[in-house]
Amino acid sequence: MSPGKFITLEGIDGAGKSTHLLWLENLLEGMGKSIVATHEPGGTLLGERLRSILLDSRQTMHPETEALLMFAARREHLDKLILPALTKGEWVISDRFTDASFAYQGGGRGLSEDKLDGLEHWVQGEFQPDLTFYFDVTSELGRKRLNNRGDGVESVDRFEKEEGEFFDRVRKSYLKRARKFSHRIHIIDSSQSLESIRLKLKDIILTIC
Ligand code: TYD
Repeated sequence: MSPGKFITLEGIDGAGKSTHLLWLENLLEGMGKSIVATHEPGGTLLGERLRSILLDSRQTMHPETEALLMFAARREHLDKLILPALTKGEWVISDRFTDASFAYQGGGRGLSEDKLDGLEHWVQGEFQPDLTFYFDVTSELGRKRLNNRGDGVESVDRFEKEEGEFFDRVRKSYLKRARKFSHRIHIIDSSQSLESIRLKLKDIILTIC
């Protein structure tokens, strides 16, 4: 049995990851793959508890605390869900993974790449996704899509309430990382029509099937 593949979806808030995740899940299931769809921070019992602390808009914390909690949740996620599923030959699709820490805690909050490199190495060694889709939108378009979600101001989380400049920095950092790891990270222009994005996703997925 061949080990499964690990696919991650990235982008600033409002980039449209969730819609694409559902579609990708159906596509791969249609190709006969067994799929585990998950997200970060979260994906385990402890990870979900950390997620609710991390996303609580009433909670304040030091940027390093934020990074440590993200990686703590990730350690559990790898141990309890991601690695066991891959070993069983399942394909894992995760809505966010470590690239998000470099973009949000690095670019957004200003933590040094060295510190994040250290955490990454500690928690996952050389392990990396087989494929990453980075859905690129401007902070303006991301904000507009979040506002159109229609689930009310009360549900705005601790990251979503950040200013446009925060998301500009997050985006810049994602783009930098996508260029650095271009063998793995595919930049998808998420302002395009759903149809043309899906064609692109399918083409790229076929390269790892
Ligand atoms: P998100 O994935 O956008 O979930 P939803 O679509 O349900 O709102 O929320 C997770 C938030 O966590 C998002 O704003 C980005 C942030 N995040 C980090 O800052 N660092 C990380 O390492 C991860 C995984 C997420």
